[in-house]
Amino acid sequence: MRRTGWYLGVLAVLVAFLLPATACAQSGELEIFSWWAGDEGPALEALIEHYESLYPNVRVINATVTGGAGVNAKAVLKTRMLGGDPPDTFQVHAGQELIGTWVLADRMEDLTFLYEEEGWYDVLPEDLIKLLSTDEGIWSVAVNIHRSNVMYYIPENLEKWGVSVPTTWDEFFEIAPKLQAQGVVPLSVGENWSVIHLWESVALSVLGPDKWEALWTGELAWTSPEVVATWELLDRIMEYTNPDFASLTWQQATDMVVDGEAAFNIMGDWASGYMSTTLGLKPGVDFGWAPSPGTEGIFMMLADSFGLPKGAPNREATIAWLRTVGSREGQDIFNPLKGSISARLDSDLSRYDAYGQSVARDWQTNRIVGSLQHGVVANERFMNDFATTVMEMFLTTRDPVITSNAAHAVALQAGIGL
Ligand code: GAL
Repeated sequence: MRRTGWYLGVLAVLVAFLLPATACAQSGELEIFSWWAGDEGPALEALIEHYESLYPNVRVINATVTGGAGVNAKAVLKTRMLGGDPPDTFQVHAGQELIGTWVLADRMEDLTFLYEEEGWYDVLPEDLIKLLSTDEGIWSVAVNIHRSNVMYYIPENLEKWGVSVPTTWDEFFEIAPKLQAQGVVPLSVGENWSVIHLWESVALSVLGPDKWEALWTGELAWTSPEVVATWELLDRIMEYTNPDFASLTWQQATDMVVDGEAAFNIMGDWASGYMSTTLGLKPGVDFGWAPSPGTEGIFMMLADSFGLPKGAPNREATIAWLRTVGSREGQDIFNPLKGSISARLDSDLSRYDAYGQSVARDWQTNRIVGSLQHGVVANERFMNDFATTVMEMFLTTRDPVITSNAAHAVALQAGIGL
C-alpha cells in the first residue's frame, strides 16, 4: 500500500513534467487588443480559435477598435496605457512604433526569456529581430510580414479597357486619360492614412531605397529637391483619383477596383487577404498584383506584432498567447487568411495561395526597406503629426514646397535623424 502511494507520487511528478504546455491549465481571461475588426477579422479569429483549442480554460476577449491602419485603435490604446489600464496584449508594428513609443516609455516587458525558450532567435530573420529589439531586450512577437508597395487590379477589366499594368509612373500617366475617357477612375484612394500609404510608395519610386532610408537617419533633408519631387509627383497622381477619397475606407477603395469603377489601387497586401478571404476571389485569376510603379525589386515591409505590457492583468495567459503567435502552426494558420506571410523562416508555404507564395519569393530576393505609415521607420509622435499636419497641409494646399517644409518641422520636433 505504502509502495503504491510512492509510485503514484512519482507518476504524478512525471506527468506534470511531461504534459505538453497545452495541458498545463491556463485560466482566467485574456484581452487581445487590435484593429482587426469586421471584414479584416478572420485571420485573428482563426488564430484565437487555435489558442482556445490549446488553452480551453482561458476566456478570450477579442477587443477590436475598427479603423484601417489602427487610426482609431491607437488613440484608444494610448488613453488606456497612459491611464494605467493596459490590455493584456496589443497589436503593434515592429520598428519605431514599438521601440520609439512603448519601449521608450518603459511600458513593455522584455521577452528575451520567451525567445530563448521557444528558440525564436534561430527561426526569425535577423533584420526583423533588430526591429523588435534594443540593447536591453526584445519587446514583442511578430506574427507576420506584410508588403506595403503593391498595386492591385482586375486582369479581365484591364483587358476590356485596353490597358496594361504600368511599371513606372510615366506609363501610368500615359494610360490614365484613356481610362478616364471610358469613365474609369485610374487609381482609387481612401482616407488620409491611405494617401500617406500611397505617398510612401511614390516616394520610394522617386528616391530609391538608399535615399528613402537616408530620410530616416537625417542624411537626406526633408526640404531637398528630391523630397519636394515626391510631393510634386503625388500631386499629379491625385488628379487621377476619386474625388471622394477622404471619406472612403481602404476596403471601399479596394471595392472600387473589384467593382470595375477604378483600374488600380495601391495598398498593403491585407487587400489581397480581403479579396481572397472575405470576397472569395482567386489570386492570379480574379485579381492581379504588381509592385507599385517604379519599385520593382524593392519590398517595403512591415510586421504586426504582439507584446506584453507592464501591468498586464493576465500575464500567464498572455505569455501563452505570445507562444501561440510566434509558433509555426499559429503563423501558418493566421497568414494565409491575412494576405501576409509568416515571419518565420520555416513556414510551410504549401499552405499559402499564389499571392502568398509570390510574396515569400520576393521577401527572399528583393531589397527590403521599412514602411512609414505602418510604424517601421518612425514613432507614433512623428506619424500623428505627419497625418494631421503634413498630409492635411498637402491635401489642402497641394503645394509641394509648403508640404516639404511642414514635414521638415515635424521631423525636427520628433527628433528624426538626431
Ligand atoms: C496595417 C496592419 C495590417 C492591416 C492594415 C489595415 O497597419 O499592419 O495588418 O490591418 O493596417 O488595417
